[in-house]
Order: sequence, then C-alpha cells, then structure tokens
Amino acid sequence: MEPEPLSLPPEELRRLGHRVVDLWVDRLQTIREHPPVRTADRATLDAQLREPPPDAPGDVEAALELAADVVLGHMQRGDHPRYFARVPSPSSPVGPLADALAAGMNAIATSWAGGSGPTALELLVVDWLVELLGLPAGTEGVFLSGGSMSSTTAFAAARLARLGGHDPDAVVYASRQTHASLTRGLRALGFADDRVRLLDTDAAFRLPVDALAAAIARDRAAGLRPFLVVANAGTTNTGAVDPLDAIADVAAAEGLWLHVDGAYGAPAALTPAGRALMAGLERADSLAIDPHKWLFAPYECACLLVREPGVLEAAFAMEPEYLRDTTGDPEPSLRDRSLQLTRATRALKLWLTVKAFGVAAIRDAIARGIALAERAEATLRATPGWEVVTPAQLAIVTFAHERADAARLAARAVADGYAAPSSTTLAGRPVLRLCTINPRTTEAEIDATIARLTELAAR
Ligand SMILES: Cc1ncc(COP(=O)(O)O)c(C=O)c1O
Repeated sequence: MEPEPLSLPPEELRRLGHRVVDLWVDRLQTIREHPPVRTADRATLDAQLREPPPDAPGDVEAALELAADVVLGHMQRGDHPRYFARVPSPSSPVGPLADALAAGMNAIATSWAGGSGPTALELLVVDWLVELLGLPAGTEGVFLSGGSMSSTTAFAAARLARLGGHDPDAVVYASRQTHASLTRGLRALGFADDRVRLLDTDAAFRLPVDALAAAIARDRAAGLRPFLVVANAGTTNTGAVDPLDAIADVAAAEGLWLHVDGAYGAPAALTPAGRALMAGLERADSLAIDPHKWLFAPYECACLLVREPGVLEAAFAMEPEYLRDTTGDPEPSLRDRSLQLTRATRALKLWLTVKAFGVAAIRDAIARGIALAERAEATLRATPGWEVVTPAQLAIVTFAHERADAARLAARAVADGYAAPSSTTLAGRPVLRLCTINPRTTEAEIDATIARLTELAAR
C-alpha cells in the first residue's frame, strides 16, 4: 500500500518515539555531569544548523540527534540541580510525558464542543489550585504560557470590569520590585508610563502600605482615577512578599482591583510558613501563578485565577459566525478566557505531576527549596568574605563578596560550569543571588556551590 502523505510507517514512528525517550532520559540521568548552562556562539551553531529548507525527505533519526545535541544541548537547564539563576524550572520528568502524549494526540482545549475532555481537565486543575492556595470557591481560571501573559490578561479583564474600557486617567500602583513583564504588559495595553506608579519599597523590598495610600490620595486630589494595585507574592529579586492583607484593605477601601503576582512565589502557600507569609492572598481579585516555576511542571505552564466569575468571559468571549457550531454550550469554552483561541492543554502536565507524586510530596518539595536557601544563607554567614544582603526568603538568598564584583562573579561561575547563580542589583548595589527551588539539589551541592564561588572570588 502507498504510504499516506506526510506520515511515517507505524513501526518507524514507534522506533523514533522510543529514541526520543532514550535521548531525553539519558540526558536526565547524566544531568549532573553537564554544566547547568551551555552556550555557543552564533557562528558555531549556524555552522551546524543553517541550510536551505531541504526539498527532499531526510533522515528523521539524524535530525533528532542533531536537535538533542546542538539545539537542546545549548541552553540553560532550568531543571539542573545546580541551576540557581533567575527562576529555575525544576520540572519533574512526569510533566513532559503529559506534554508528549497531548502533542501526539494534538490536544486542543478551545471550546467545550471541540475539546470537552481537555477543558474538563483544565477546569479541574484550576479548582485544585484554588483549593490548594486557599482561594474562595468559585474562583475561575485559565492556563496560559507564563506569568507575563497571566498578568497582562488579568489587567485587560480588570480594566473592562472596573473602568468599562481604557481611561487615560486610570492609574496603576505597584512597587519598584514588581517584575518588568507586568509593566511591559500595562504599556502594551495602552497605560502611559506616567499612569503607572512604581513606588519605592521599604528596607525589606516590600510595598509600603502608607506610601500606597498616600499615592492614591494624591492622584484622587489631582482628578485621576486610581484603578489597580499590583502586589507581589514573592519578588524575583529577593523573594519578598508584599503585605497582602494590608494592601487588600487599601484596595477594598478605595475600590481598586488587587492583582497579586505569585508567578514565582504563590506555590509556597502550600506550606505552613509560606501560607503565613501570604495572609491575604485569598483577597486578591486576580492571581498569577506559574506551575512551570515552583510546581514542577515543564515550560509553558502558567495559570491566571480570577475571583469574580465571568470577568474573563466578559473581556474575551467572542461569537463569530464561523465558530457558531461550537458556541452556546452551557459549559465553558476556554478560548473565551484569554486572547488565545487555539490552545493546547497546558493543565495536563500539572495534573499528571499531581497524580504521580501527590500533594504531600509536592508540599515537601516546596518546603525543601525554602530550607535549601536557608542552608545557603547559613553557609554564607559562616564563610569569611561574604555578606548576606537579603536573608533566605521563599528560596531566594542574595549576597555579596567583599572583593569581587557580583555580575563578573556570576558570569565566571556560569563559565566555570559547576553551578549557575545569577546577579541583580538591590538599592543600587550589585549582588549575587541563588534561587534554590529544585528539590533534587543536595545540601552538599549547596555547600560546594558556595565553596566554588568563594574560590572564584579569590582569583
Ligand atoms: C515574579 C515574576 N513575575 C512574572 C514573571 C514572568 O513570568 P514568565 O517568564 O513566565 O512570563 C516572572 C518570571 O521569572 C517572575 O519571577
């Protein structure tokens, strides 16, 4: 029989699929033998990859080997146990199984009619997150690509819900420690820079409630329209959690929408210590959380949660005639909850992760990340030459060496290849930073990382 166009014989597909699993599991098994970040210059990569689009069929297995070696062999490995830069993605090996299965079946979660299985699952996983984070029952949500899209989607929905559309006089409040992707999202939505108040933080890099209230009062007196306050449940720089309860009081008194960026830190609310830090989280009008950060799912897995039912649909539902056959179902169509119409099932990888390990193990893994940062802090305090700049908070510790420039030291460590810290600037001061959310990192690796940094600083 003639083969169908653009297909492979089933036996070959099986063989190639098994090869993919071998490539991936082999890499995982040897991950500690590789550096957490591997780069190459453009010319080197182009020399191995660049060619005109081939007209004739090629060797799929050879292409897969090239992809594994050259393409996927040159990048940061967010799941490497000694990758501590920015925010790691300590994905478990289970999430990728869900991604592979879903991609193999070309899953779609756009309408109820066209994807009721993936939609039902996504609604379930949203409900799991609502329960685990202690948010009010009835909170709705949608899975998106990342924290940037979750927060920007929240802002668009909040604007319509609270202002009825764009108002050039509407003002947004956030701290200077707020992630730049959020201010970028506001800009893309048409908020002018002079309508986004980035307030100075207190000494612990948190949004001061008094300054927030004063800024709102000033803007009201000037005839402006205070609209939205963004609070952080775990900043990228230091892991600081803004005083959510007190900010929620101000938001409630002033009629402002409260958005909490928990892209990084919200999973810590599964642990008793994190929950205590995040008192007031349940009062957020919207919350962004990234399971591809601290809930052990691979990229891209983010979720936006919105307390008031129907707010997302009010902003994003559409009913063109060519979708009419899939419209009007009493069950939700997730295309109506964001700007994404065609959408794969991002919830499946989180669902499978929870099914595989259970909540208790996930909670322990989050607590372990917090404890590893505390160990790093204690080791730094005991090692001459280092100063802890901000203590371990939600698995992030920042520190500086008396003799070495932080950015140069971070670059040297990455090039050295044992561990990858990153650098940032706090109150004008360059610092090194470790984000220790990978539960597979050992205590010995934390100690060895600091020993290696101490050695590099001395050079
Ligand atoms: C606190 C915080 N908010 C938002 C983002 C943006 O998330 P994403 O990169 O998934 O778009 C990040 C990313 O690291 C973050 O740490």
